Amino acid sequence: MKNQKRYTVTAALPYANGPLHLGHIAGCYLPADIYVRYLKGKGNDAVFVCGSDEHGAAITLRAKKENTTPQHIVDTNHKIIKTAFEDFGIDFDVYHRTSSELHHETASEMFKEMHEKGAFIEQTTEQFYDEENKQFLADRYIVGTCPKCSYDGAYGDQCEKCGSTLSPTELINPTSTISGNSPILKETTHWFLPMNDHEKWLKEWIETGKLEGEQQHDPATWRKQVLGQCKSWIDNGLLPRSITRDLDWGIKVPVEGGDGKVLYVWFDAPIGYISATKKWAADNNKNWEDYWKNEETELVHFIGKDNIVFHAIIFPIILKSQGDYILPTNVPANEFLNLEGDKISTSRNWAVWLHEYLADFPNKEDELRYVLTAIAPETKDSEFTWKDYQLRVNSELVAIFGNFVNRSVVLTHKYYDGLVPALGTLSDYDKEVIAALTTTQEKVDDLLSKFKFRDAQTEAMNLARIGNKYLADTEPWKLIKTDEERVKTIMNIALQISNTLSIVFEPFLPKISEKLKRILNSNSTELAAGHQINKAELLFQKIEDEAIEAQVEKLKSTTVQQSNPKAKPMKDEITFDEFTKMDIRVGTILTAEKHPDADKLLKMTVDTGIDVRTVVSGIAAHYKPEDIIGTQVSVLINLAPRKIRGIESQGMILMAENNEGSLAFVSPEKAIDNGGEVR
Ligand code: MF3
Ligand code: ZN
Repeated sequence: MKNQKRYTVTAALPYANGPLHLGHIAGCYLPADIYVRYLKGKGNDAVFVCGSDEHGAAITLRAKKENTTPQHIVDTNHKIIKTAFEDFGIDFDVYHRTSSELHHETASEMFKEMHEKGAFIEQTTEQFYDEENKQFLADRYIVGTCPKCSYDGAYGDQCEKCGSTLSPTELINPTSTISGNSPILKETTHWFLPMNDHEKWLKEWIETGKLEGEQQHDPATWRKQVLGQCKSWIDNGLLPRSITRDLDWGIKVPVEGGDGKVLYVWFDAPIGYISATKKWAADNNKNWEDYWKNEETELVHFIGKDNIVFHAIIFPIILKSQGDYILPTNVPANEFLNLEGDKISTSRNWAVWLHEYLADFPNKEDELRYVLTAIAPETKDSEFTWKDYQLRVNSELVAIFGNFVNRSVVLTHKYYDGLVPALGTLSDYDKEVIAALTTTQEKVDDLLSKFKFRDAQTEAMNLARIGNKYLADTEPWKLIKTDEERVKTIMNIALQISNTLSIVFEPFLPKISEKLKRILNSNSTELAAGHQINKAELLFQKIEDEAIEAQVEKLKSTTVQQSNPKAKPMKDEITFDEFTKMDIRVGTILTAEKHPDADKLLKMTVDTGIDVRTVVSGIAAHYKPEDIIGTQVSVLINLAPRKIRGIESQGMILMAENNEGSLAFVSPEKAIDNGGEVR
């Protein structure tokens, strides 16, 4: 075959702390799978690698929360993810995992080699340290208030509310999630990738595609969004980035001074592509280096947009500093897929999980593939809705593609016992339709080679539309009574279209293509006259309203309804006994005056029913003393007395706080005897 090439195609290693949802599939795995099927279909030598990304502090944190081990978390999720990929027909040549020995060796070796080459710098910096637990805190172990949006639950590396990338020292009121204390800053030494040293070649490589004077790729084929993000990173100046962490889950830092430290998850994860290739090569009698160190090989990374800098800047720096490796020729990143009018959120469970879809819609993998490609977020965020899913399946797959193929096959059996009739004289219309067979294949191939999956599928579908219209226009079921010769030609053409559909849809709808080939009893590009086809079978079935309504219902009922996005996350669970230890009573404020030494404080006396006591409270900005006398409030009376600015406060008045920080008393809704218990 002509133009055969070698390709290494990677899909972002899914993070093994949860299952896959449709956003992951539309963003990365489906286009990658389509691309590889296309490449292989053209006879190229392509390896498609992926695996679970199993390190990082998010996993250790989750293990701690769920009272289990990180290994248990990743084992569980690895299995779920791997099975869902298989069931859905994402056809990796290897699905590896980063907790494997082979990966640990590979990443460790890579670090050592780079270390020997002087590719890293060591830097001692101040990092947050939990004194109670005597440990440095990974970014994920620190929460605080986001400096950008004021969200209280922001992590040290990222605010999940506003999406800002943060560093832990930017957080307001940083707190250790392990002890709940404020951490101190303490010196620790880490290895850094001096990204600033790589700025020059990176800029040239990204902007012109030239690497050391050679044209390595064509930036015109890179997505705007990818180029844009890279340019803005480089233009803002690259900084040394630490590639090790103080953590005990991950790949041990394999050089002197590395005790108690592991490689940063974003250093080891992309190396997972290499270890996966090694595993595949070992199992298939191949040489992995052909796929990573040969300049003729094209390396293509499929990812979501949140991974762009890691694949287009950081990993290329790693590969290039190591020395022998090739760099990607493209990084086709997708934007995000939204769901039913909202961002997908795993924490709120606003998601359609792949394994649940597969269970709820058995044998409808290709229907989902079709819809997700039709709405692929290639150039901007897009949206999945169940109504749209139903509409596309029913009015496109069933009504056009399925209907056309079914008519062609059924009529061939009816008129010719399933034997392909010969072509007769061709009308202009016939010629036009026959020409569409070739042009469709050419257009689909061209678009796929340019990573335009959505447009490519539209072209393929247009051929089904052409076929459907051709039968509707020529009406062979009427002509059969008056012009039998003409019907032979029409049916031949209809069958050739069906056959071409089975070819052009192969990368998009692999199972349906196979079924169609089975029906047409064909594996070649044309059906010869006299060829026997098999009996018709329906390619697609209608999706009923009930199925769709059930999904929408399920989505809504299992979603965490957070009406106030600024509300603080729930504190750790307590027992009922712990709750009953608090003695909260209804009391009445008898007197109130400003604290003599503090503007924000009021000094009050409160009748608690069992005594009259002094309480100091920081509510002077919210209430005037004269306005609150006689108000009934809730008082925590068994709180140990504390001196507040020189005055002993014997209890605490409960206050409710608004998003903006304004305070209100928590008062009984009708008058209650002082001393009444709040429970
Ligand atoms: N696990 C990462 C994510 O889910 C992706 C890792 S891609 C790799 O965003 F290159 F690091 F493997
Ligand atoms: Zn924020």
